[in-house]
Amino acid sequence: MKVTLEHLTKRFDDVIAVNDLSETFESGKLIALLGPSGCGKSTMLNMLSGILPVSSGRIYFDDVDVTDLTPEKREVGLVFQNYALYPHMTVLQNIAFPLKIRKVPKAERNARALEFARMVHIEDYLDRHPAELSGGQQQRVAIARALVKDPKLLLLDEPLSNLDAKLRVEMREEIRRIQKASGVTTVFVTHDQEEATSISDYIMLMKLGVKQQFDATRNLYGDPANLFVADFIGSPAINQLKGCWHDGGFVADGDKQVIRISNLKIEEDRRVILAIRPESFVFDDNKGETTVKVNEIYQAGKDTLMNVSLADQPLRGYIDPYYNPSIGSEVRFSLRDKGVFVFDEKTGERIR
Ligand SMILES: Nc1ncnc2c1ncn2[C@@H]1O[C@H](COP(=O)(O)OP(=O)(O)OP(=O)(O)O)[C@@H](O)[C@H]1O
Ligand SMILES: [Mg+2]
Repeated sequence: MKVTLEHLTKRFDDVIAVNDLSETFESGKLIALLGPSGCGKSTMLNMLSGILPVSSGRIYFDDVDVTDLTPEKREVGLVFQNYALYPHMTVLQNIAFPLKIRKVPKAERNARALEFARMVHIEDYLDRHPAELSGGQQQRVAIARALVKDPKLLLLDEPLSNLDAKLRVEMREEIRRIQKASGVTTVFVTHDQEEATSISDYIMLMKLGVKQQFDATRNLYGDPANLFVADFIGSPAINQLKGCWHDGGFVADGDKQVIRISNLKIEEDRRVILAIRPESFVFDDNKGETTVKVNEIYQAGKDTLMNVSLADQPLRGYIDPYYNPSIGSEVRFSLRDKGVFVFDEKTGERIR
């Protein structure tokens, strides 16, 4: 099912938690709602579910206006951070419960519950109670319980944040697998950019209730709409050099070297931020164009990273593991075409 939001807005007294947001979520996709704490993610999700009335704007499920429908009538499945399973019921009874409420006969509801227990790989624990399950297992039961009603839309609000680091990574893949297996359009809230990028087809990145970019996940990384997006997505974070446009190139504050950027012409002396992904440096002492000082070289798993400074501004880039200049020495780099962006210093607007 396709979801369309039209000028969706939610006000709480003087806070605009979601501000004039319009977008379409294609059927069958997994969409991550991403952004820092307080940016309006849960508010968005709660308006989608019908728990929270909108201040203005409309919500459509396919072509049906559901804005004024109750949560039950919208047929959504909800999973929250605390799974809220029924402690006195077994796994099978928990999953079957929404069908019991709908008065589905016992044999049929148990058969359906078993089908979804299998989908989330919890079928070996059907007779256990929630207290006898790990966090990840409980979370899978909660997802099966949300899916058993055959919802038109699955809504997950930070469903992994109570799990330890290793389990979170495993459960990301599980959720992706389960979502693809069920084919239900899914909206997944998280404030963790790595979680969002590893799980979703599309990401909506928000800041203070305002949509910053809605795009295929890799485009947020490779084609960010503004400085906030470029900075929020990517680890290690994108490098940011402050400076201005001078003599047909970028000159960092405190430095004299002109960094040429292909296909870019902007007005002289404009204040800009040159943002460089850590993999967009090519360090080469013969062919490099810009000289920097080496501060540190370190290993992060399989990757080798080097911290350098240009005037007093720090930069961090990936290097070839066999490249080993001495600390304190000067080295030279040039820039790749991809992963190099220029933003207006004041507005964060993308110039290149
Ligand atoms: N019931 C409420 N009454 C007043 N203000 C609220 C209410 N619910 C949310 N807000 C405000 O709306 C804004 C968005 O809140 P929301 O819970 O949607 O953020 P979030 O992105 O889910 O954050 P988090 O990552 O911390 O869960 C915040 O400024 C919050 O304080
Ligand atoms: Mg929230």
